[in-house]
Amino acid sequence: MAKLEIEKDTLTLTGAAVASATLVGLAWLMDALRRDRWARQMHRKLVDLLLNALTADDPVTARHSRRVADLTSVLAGACGGLSRPELATLRVAALLHDMGKIDDRFFLIVHSRKRLSEEQRAEIKHHPHLSATILQPLEEMHPGIQKIVSSHHECWDGSGYPCGIGGHEIPLAARIIAVADVFDAMTQPRKYKGPMPVEEALEKLDEGAGHQFDPRLVALVESGPVLAQWTQIALQGQRDEQDHLENPNPTERAIEHVAAEV
Ligand SMILES: [Fe+2]
Repeated sequence: MAKLEIEKDTLTLTGAAVASATLVGLAWLMDALRRDRWARQMHRKLVDLLLNALTADDPVTARHSRRVADLTSVLAGACGGLSRPELATLRVAALLHDMGKIDDRFFLIVHSRKRLSEEQRAEIKHHPHLSATILQPLEEMHPGIQKIVSSHHECWDGSGYPCGIGGHEIPLAARIIAVADVFDAMTQPRKYKGPMPVEEALEKLDEGAGHQFDPRLVALVESGPVLAQWTQIALQGQRDEQDHLENPNPTERAIEHVAAEV
């Protein structure tokens, strides 16, 4: 009888120990998840801050980069096969792909209203490399991000820059950004041009399939679910850009002033 009671006490004690160990484990897990969520939020905010800082004198590029990141996320989702860290790297790369243009020597080229000279066209081709250099500190956290941003102007047929690589030599993320980048540039208005209708932009992408762009990605853009979301992003972008064209902020007015003189 006494032995039975001791065993019962032991069982109760063991049960209590397991319960408290489980509670401690759960608390630790919740804390780890909270810290992980906080770290991810902080990372997003720091990337946003970096984009704001790097584009403080170029709000048009900032808005373009944010739309490219949205378009890219939609297309990457439709592609499938990308892990969560790869999708995170792709989004950061899309947001910061043109940061090389922060270099002063590109400012007048980027904002020029005139047709670019041969020298200017050659000069601007250095910006992908410079983007990669700027993003070097992020390489450890986002493996491959430098190669992605340095390849966003490479073409499927090898006719792009800066290295002239083609096909699957170009990282998938860079191929995705390339399509989104051109689609946004075509469909958004600028001071010197109106927005191209989405249908016409799709025809242009179609013409570039197999030459400038990965044909599989263009086919995905033309598929229903991606097209619906891309159209929505483009139309919202057109409303925003039109609003900024009609009511430029002080930075945009200052850029206009400089651009009018070059
Ligand atoms: Fe670029």
